[in-house]
Amino acid sequence: MTGSLKPRAIGRGHSRRDGAAKVTGTAPYAYETAPESPLYCHLVQATIARGRCAEIGTTAAEALEGVRCVITPSTAERLAVTDDRELAVLQDLEVPFRGRVIAVVLANSPETARHAAELVTVRYESEPHDCLLTADHPELYEPDEVNAGFPTDTADGDLDAALSGADVVIDQTYTTAPYFNNPLEPHTTTALWDGDTLTLRESTQGVHPLRATVADLFGLPTEKVRVTCPYIGGGFGSKGTPHVNVVLATMAARAVPGTPVKLELTRQQMFTLAGYRTPTIQRARLGAERDGTLRAVGMDVVEQTSRIKEYAEQSAAPARMMYAAPNRATSHRLAALDLPVPSWMRAPGECPGMFGPEVAMDELAAVLDVDPVELRIRNEPLRDPETGNPFSSRNLVACLRQGAENFGWDGRSGARRDGRWLVGAGVASSVYPAKRMPGSRAVIRFENGRYVVEIGAADLGTGTWTVLPQIAADALDVPVASVDARIGDTLYPFATVAGGSTGTASWGSAVFAAADVFRDKYGTDPGEGDEADAETPANPDEDKYAMYGFGAQFAEARVDADTGEVRVSRLHGTFAVGRIINPVTARSQLLGGMIMGLSMALHENGVLDPRVGLTVNHDLAEYHIATNADIEDVRADWIDEHDPHLNPMESKGIGEIGIVGTAAAITNAVHAATGVRVRDLPITLDKLL
Ligand code: MOS
Repeated sequence: MTGSLKPRAIGRGHSRRDGAAKVTGTAPYAYETAPESPLYCHLVQATIARGRCAEIGTTAAEALEGVRCVITPSTAERLAVTDDRELAVLQDLEVPFRGRVIAVVLANSPETARHAAELVTVRYESEPHDCLLTADHPELYEPDEVNAGFPTDTADGDLDAALSGADVVIDQTYTTAPYFNNPLEPHTTTALWDGDTLTLRESTQGVHPLRATVADLFGLPTEKVRVTCPYIGGGFGSKGTPHVNVVLATMAARAVPGTPVKLELTRQQMFTLAGYRTPTIQRARLGAERDGTLRAVGMDVVEQTSRIKEYAEQSAAPARMMYAAPNRATSHRLAALDLPVPSWMRAPGECPGMFGPEVAMDELAAVLDVDPVELRIRNEPLRDPETGNPFSSRNLVACLRQGAENFGWDGRSGARRDGRWLVGAGVASSVYPAKRMPGSRAVIRFENGRYVVEIGAADLGTGTWTVLPQIAADALDVPVASVDARIGDTLYPFATVAGGSTGTASWGSAVFAAADVFRDKYGTDPGEGDEADAETPANPDEDKYAMYGFGAQFAEARVDADTGEVRVSRLHGTFAVGRIINPVTARSQLLGGMIMGLSMALHENGVLDPRVGLTVNHDLAEYHIATNADIEDVRADWIDEHDPHLNPMESKGIGEIGIVGTAAAITNAVHAATGVRVRDLPITLDKLL
């Protein structure tokens, strides 16, 4: 594929094709379909942390005018497959966490459904519960592997010997909070059974993977299920795997064949039913020579999962490949608690996993009195420390250098006082794998004198509607204005999930392959109805090269000397992420990630009351997410990177790298400003006074 791309549409800043529809409110979200006379669901959730429902009383709820039925574990249909216990809902009377759905009310209005749900009575048999993650939890266990297929533990060389022989050792424990996905559009389903056919309108990052799961659960042939989702109001990973809303709406719809059923999670329900990020307890150890050369890197992470389903976030994974050090060891240990099921969220693994190590690097730089930019450059590996493979491209050093120049970095010595504000700057590195997933298939058709690309892909608000025509235009060597895209529907060919920053690389590779077939078959002058399709090809280079995007995050923090208030006055990210397909949508994604990183550094924190198993701040009034007023000068740019090993677009995924390292850069800036080293996120006022 080297040199085959002559980008004309790729690389240009086309504005969003769905932009006008989105800002004028005419892009319909999953709940905004208006079927004739639908029925509405409301969920009843358990109010104990562990035990079982001895009795569920539905008489009062059923007697309410407008209520169609109340579905409980005794009346719910049996699912064909129950091994995913998050999704196997209403199949038994167990309460594995507070907030587990134990009944669904179906009624003729959302208000009636909600009122009736409050009339459902439950007698519980409680059991002792355990909701508290600690570093020395008595039941920590070693999962078989962690998310994305990484090994649980790794070891190279002799970490302990290298640490005891090192000139300088940093050995600190860092913690990150539980984080909750809060896309503006909550998880919603509209379900309709028509004969033996199920139609779902669902807010999802992947219509095809969702369809496969639902078909499996209900024992249906996949072709009997259609899923549509043209627009998504955010997901951040929480809509990457199906959650119980689709299962419950499908069950409820089965009770009323021919009638559409709508289910929308409330904001509060999002905190128990839509996945979240585990808190992490990270012990990061660095051993270095006096000149800053790392001899040892250790990263041991303790995390939680739920008792009913394992999700093991790969937080120690980035420490394995980030810096050169001959002696390395990493591990993950989990506690299975009586809490909701964690899941994908905003750069799983890399996001929490780059916090401890990148603050530890800053601590090492401070002890050695070395510029933290220089310390990172000194430890740049020539090959992937983990696999020994060369990097397909690795421009972290270029990001650090260009970022330092753009930011006006003058090292940690730049700390100063400006009136009541203590001002300091910090840096951290950023990384995210650049992967492509096999299996997607794209169709290209010549229709009404235009080229049409069909693929069951998703646009989370990231720009898929816009970049797929750009990619197809260059693949076909035609103007971008002559290409239309159709996505977000299982009527179109299979596409992998919009997740792991793999979407554009995977789908775009299929589009290029389909364009090749199309040109071979029809040349440059196709006729009406001419059509070709192809699948994402395997990439033989994936076994030979380590493939990652890199970045450098620079932050300036201002801390009020009296109150401890923290403002991030400047946040500049410089990234090396292959060819930028669309600078407008790319910048937006990178900035969005950085803002989420700021939010993680200063605001977001799910506060658990372990006595009752409840995240008490379960709404947007109390779970603080960065708002416009929190964001001052935030910039993202990139270096011109050419990597022939990736895919025909020569692009790397950019959906997640923006959040990685941001919280560490801010933490390091706060330290430069105040001398206070915070190792426990978020950085709240009390930690600085
Ligand atoms: Mo992303 S958290 O893999 O959707």
